[in-house]
Amino acid sequence: MGKLRTAVVGVGTFGRNHARAYAEYERSELVWVCDLNEERGREIAAHYGAQYTPDYREVAGDPSVEAVSIATPDFAHTEPALTMIESGKHILVEKPLATATEEARHILEAAKEAEVVLMVDFHNRWNPPFLRAKRAVREGEIGEPLVGFARLSDTIYVPTEMLLWAGRSGPQWFLMSHIADLMCWLVDKRPEKVYAVGEKKVLRGRGMDTYDFVQAMVTFEGGATVTLESCWVLPNSLPRLIDFQIYLAGTEGRISVEAAFQGIEIAGDKLSHPFVLGQEDAYGRTMGFVQEPIYHFVNCVLDGHPPQCPGEDGLRATAVVEAALRSIEEGRPVRIGL
Ligand SMILES: NC(=O)c1ccc[n+]([C@@H]2O[C@H](COP(=O)([O-])OP(=O)(O)OC[C@H]3O[C@@H](n4cnc5c(N)ncnc54)[C@H](O)[C@@H]3O)[C@@H](O)[C@H]2O)c1
Repeated sequence: MGKLRTAVVGVGTFGRNHARAYAEYERSELVWVCDLNEERGREIAAHYGAQYTPDYREVAGDPSVEAVSIATPDFAHTEPALTMIESGKHILVEKPLATATEEARHILEAAKEAEVVLMVDFHNRWNPPFLRAKRAVREGEIGEPLVGFARLSDTIYVPTEMLLWAGRSGPQWFLMSHIADLMCWLVDKRPEKVYAVGEKKVLRGRGMDTYDFVQAMVTFEGGATVTLESCWVLPNSLPRLIDFQIYLAGTEGRISVEAAFQGIEIAGDKLSHPFVLGQEDAYGRTMGFVQEPIYHFVNCVLDGHPPQCPGEDGLRATAVVEAALRSIEEGRPVRIGL
């Protein structure tokens, strides 16, 4: 069987991981790199010996391309995703699948109709502590999940310096979509309703109409309830970009994960807690949970297996976050539109 011919649309901070994974994996090759930023796109294309285009329709029009990653900003997944599906490409979409439930549903239905693989890159499902947590739930170590908490937050560096488009997203899409998926995956019941609060102060003062934080209480079918919290204004004096914890208590036990501290602290000019999981091994090859879901996607396409994070799961996370936003606006609990 030949190598899967792939492309990446959007090669910024995260999309370049997709380009690297396709180029390094023995079962795939990177054929196109597409990015509106010509300098960035050309540089990455040249690095991996791929072709460059600023227009994703050119990728869609190449019949030799079989699978495409979409890693454009949160609000800009839908159009390239639908264009690729219409051209018969299998797609791996960065989280969140879309920033509106209706759009996510549209992508899902189009993929079903075209019979292409649609996977959403919820890479934390490959993150070792969460894999172990999932096993604990599956094997009954904590009984039936009852009540939980998940926090994924960033320092203010992320919306103000790292992302150019933070004003068109928010902690609820960039961060909460991850923990909405994680907790739905762990609890493994249908999320039914959300009551959420949020505040716009600090980032609004910096000219961005986006939430500083969103906190959302999600109740699942059968009564289990988890609180999701994402904040985008933590101080830059923290030794790492993120805070990431989960807690899940069940009828017979509980799980607690501290996922931000990865076991190493460096005190140089500044105190830092570098990311080491999902980075490089001793030989300069990528390893860990950043590229594993990308390899999984390649395997699913080549071997005809359904992906572990199918479009339905992307739709679910988008619906939870969208309901949280409506709950904030309406000041009351809201049913999740699934
Ligand atoms: N940064 C992270 O740590 C991280 C982690 C996981 C997932 N993600 C997800 O990955 C996606 C991208 O985030 P990012 O941080 O890499 O953003 P980014 O701004 O660094 O990169 C986005 C890239 O997409 C390009 N782009 C925008 N519209 C385009 C279009 N129509 N056609 C081609 N290129 C286009 C931009 O020029 C840019 O290079 C988001 O959905 C984000 O939630 C990011």
